[in-house]
Amino acid sequence: MSDRIAVYPGSFDPIHNGHLDLIERCRPLYDRLVIAVLRNEAKRALFSVDERLEIIRDLVGKDRGCEVESFSGLLVDFMDQVGARIVVRGLRAVTDFEYEFQMAMMNRRLNPRVETVFMAPKEEYNYLSSSLVKEVFSLGGDLTGLVPDPVLARLRRHLEPRSGRSRRR
Ligand SMILES: Nc1ncnc2c1ncn2[C@@H]1O[C@H](COP(=O)(O)OP(=O)(O)O)[C@@H](O)[C@H]1O
Ligand SMILES: [Mg+2]
Repeated sequence: MSDRIAVYPGSFDPIHNGHLDLIERCRPLYDRLVIAVLRNEAKRALFSVDERLEIIRDLVGKDRGCEVESFSGLLVDFMDQVGARIVVRGLRAVTDFEYEFQMAMMNRRLNPRVETVFMAPKEEYNYLSSSLVKEVFSLGGDLTGLVPDPVLARLRRHLEPRSGRSRRR
């Protein structure tokens, strides 16, 4: 258990370049990075958990020290299962602070061994979110440079863009 293992949990519905930027930044800081997709039946998702796992594995699964898994229930329980103490979360602009701080404090209370590390993405991804990705795509907006190509291809399979602009199918 001397490996420094970090867990990066999230919905990743779908993964975008802000998430990928964070993964790239924190991967060299730890021996192993487990990207953990939350199974949350209560949250309506566009992509199934299996599809999200497949996408993320294709993108980073072969990177040294990167693993991609799903979990349900308490994050701190999953942390124990994989033997990790570090949770990595992203902080965008100012909007994430309140919620992220609350979660970090609750997780610490549930398991005092767990530390949350916050990372800031590259400036250009500061306003990027999965929900905005889905909304902009469905309205026909250009997402070049904001999501990786395999995600764009899968968005085309799941969502019909409404306006003509990005109807390159
Ligand atoms: N553009 C971004 N830049 C940096 N971090 C981000 C960005 N978008 C999301 N994140 C972070 O990635 C993590 C997972 O986000 P998300 O997939 O939305 O799952 P969750 O449902 O847990 O919010 C969160 O810590 C979130 O703050
Ligand atoms: Mg979120």
